[in-house]
Amino acid sequence: MAEPYKNSDQNSFAFTSATKRWPVIITQAIDAVFRAIPGPSNELKTKEGRKIVEDLAKLKYELQHNRVLSPLRDDGLPDIAHYNDALVALGEAKWLEVSWLFSECYLYRRIATYFATTTQWNTFDVFLTSKLTTLRSSLPAILELAHRYSSITKPSTFTDETSSLLFHEIFLICLWGNATDLSLLTTLSYEDIQSLQGSHARKESEKNILANDLDKVYTLLTSLKTSGQKEIRVDIVLDNSGFELFVDLYLAGYLLSQGLATTIVLHPKNHPWFVSDVLPSDFAILLNALQDPVDFFITKNDNEHEIKHELKIEDSESIQDLFGSLATFHAEGKLSIRTNKYWTLQDPFWTLPEDKELWEDLKSSELVIYKGDLNYRKLTGDAAWPPTTPFHEALQTLGKGSGCRTLALRTCKADVVVGLDEGVDEKLRQEDKNNTGDQAKRSWAWHGKYAVMQFCDGKA
Ligand code: F6P
Ligand code: MG
Repeated sequence: MAEPYKNSDQNSFAFTSATKRWPVIITQAIDAVFRAIPGPSNELKTKEGRKIVEDLAKLKYELQHNRVLSPLRDDGLPDIAHYNDALVALGEAKWLEVSWLFSECYLYRRIATYFATTTQWNTFDVFLTSKLTTLRSSLPAILELAHRYSSITKPSTFTDETSSLLFHEIFLICLWGNATDLSLLTTLSYEDIQSLQGSHARKESEKNILANDLDKVYTLLTSLKTSGQKEIRVDIVLDNSGFELFVDLYLAGYLLSQGLATTIVLHPKNHPWFVSDVLPSDFAILLNALQDPVDFFITKNDNEHEIKHELKIEDSESIQDLFGSLATFHAEGKLSIRTNKYWTLQDPFWTLPEDKELWEDLKSSELVIYKGDLNYRKLTGDAAWPPTTPFHEALQTLGKGSGCRTLALRTCKADVVVGLDEGVDEKLRQEDKNNTGDQAKRSWAWHGKYAVMQFCDGKA
């Protein structure tokens, strides 16, 4: 069995994350709280805010000085014991000694306890400002897609090549929507974000998909449709808000309107997570933005660095039509969100079957789509598998015969990768100019340039 990546491994992105990226993310959180402290107008909120800043500063100190991971403060939620029991089992574990996956989840869960144990800050999303900024900067790509929405949702027979091409393209849009992620791209400019989105970028990037099982998913969904099966449920375990959530909803709208799914269930997080992950409140924000695009994208956009866009009447109308379609699906009960504390545990998804209720629920779905890098790390235990390990093997309890179908749509932002053809990893290591010397690092896989779309039929 492969071992999970550890923060101490200097060749892995774990080390860079723990030593360089997390201190920056904590500092940004401190700034966000600091800026939101109201002052004398609300003494209690000010007092609690100062305490959060102090707690965050202490966390940063402990991380940077490789101290022992302390037990999480009890915020009354049931998963605290799960984390603290794991800490006890690890002994007096220090930041650089523990596994990357465990410590990164612990980091965000610990930050959440600081807010949850207050009376004035318990619904404060410490990463909200950066999420809003990126959503606003995604307007050109949102427009491009919104203009096409009515044509992609026209009923299709799926007997011709065009239908298949369209299916593949919508999934590619959904895949690459994951490339813009705030925890990784902390210094991204508007121009950078926009160049990662849009049809040109997608065409360019197709050659960077290293494993692609989409044909199997096309066959699955079209045959379920043609079999006349009444209920076809598809689940999406979400990753990031903003543009990625927009493309996830775009995919949902496409699948529902084509009858390739009759119900879509979306799974967000319960706490601010890995900076940009979707919270239930992010839905409301996105849907409101689509309902009144001028207000969100233009009137309320006070970012002086952005090249200001104008919205023509037909732009607003396209966005609002898209909103209308999604709102109707939601009102009809075909599009819903379902929260669960499981998604912010530190566990690899190999423990999903132990959560009986959630597992039974997921098994009643025809297809569970896991978006993004962190979900992929959890599917594979974030372990140092040989890169040619079959995907179903790395899934362990979620693999063959599990009763659940799994599709991972992931742009690579971490070391773990499985299901590659022989020699691919070696070739990419050689070509990677940042990886000099003995090519001991898999740095080609760290920055979202490459992707995998991997499927395992656990119902077969
Ligand atoms: O690799 C950087 C990183 O922050 C990882 O720690 C994490 O797995 C990932 O990016 C988050 O990306 P995503 O939003 O795609 O899960
Ligand atoms: Mg994320």
